[in-house]
Amino acid sequence: MTRSAVGGAVHHPWFARLWVRIAAAAEEHGAAEHRARLLTGIAGRVVEIGAGTGVNFAHYPATVDDVLAVEPEPLLRGLAARAAERATVRVVVADGVAERIPAEDGAFDAAVASLVLCSVPDQAPALAELRRVLRPGGRLHFWEHVRADGAGFARVQALLDRTVWPRLGGGCHTSRDTAAAITAAGFTLERVERFRFPAGRVPSPTAPQILGTALRDG
Ligand SMILES: C[S@@+](CC[C@H](N)C(=O)[O-])C[C@H]1O[C@@H](n2cnc3c(N)ncnc32)[C@H](O)[C@@H]1O
Repeated sequence: MTRSAVGGAVHHPWFARLWVRIAAAAEEHGAAEHRARLLTGIAGRVVEIGAGTGVNFAHYPATVDDVLAVEPEPLLRGLAARAAERATVRVVVADGVAERIPAEDGAFDAAVASLVLCSVPDQAPALAELRRVLRPGGRLHFWEHVRADGAGFARVQALLDRTVWPRLGGGCHTSRDTAAAITAAGFTLERVERFRFPAGRVPSPTAPQILGTALRDG
């Protein structure tokens, strides 16, 4: 089993197969618009963590010079490599984890995390590594499902995380306060949208989401 630099398992083949279907379906039902907003204004050298099938690649604007996309799961990495061939910006896909990015300090102008800070074993080491590889003033673009604002819903999410959610096998957590973790890691939140996706009347545990940017301090 592949393990992250901090010891958590990151190899989830069953979830990877499921994610291929979920990502494709979500793209048809609104995810594409969120990805386009996620990547609005991004420029220069970019690192993307947990790139999955590479579904973000088609949304990178021409202001991007190149992208290093790390993905630990072999099935997803293979699909991402194919998506990179179709992308209009240069994308290099590499085996790797968020906690150990194969790059020098300050190598990137921007970093991208979409629906991945829910899955890393521990957010602090992953965010510290993103901070390390971003230049001072570099920007983290994030789109993540998070802990609900409402206390009742948040309690349900916490209960799920302690019980059935880990059995889904993707390493996913529903009750993380990712905006707080980003701030604690040495970033200043610049823009944060909060919304539910999908916006059904009965919310999914992963429906509370945030999308925005944060500046690397210092
Ligand atoms: C829910 S999928 C999201 C994929 C993609 N970012 C997207 O927006 O469609 C979560 C991804 O995080 C990856 N992942 C899990 N743990 C990771 C880690 N420690 N470092 C980097 N990626 C990780 C998984 O392999 C998977 O591709």
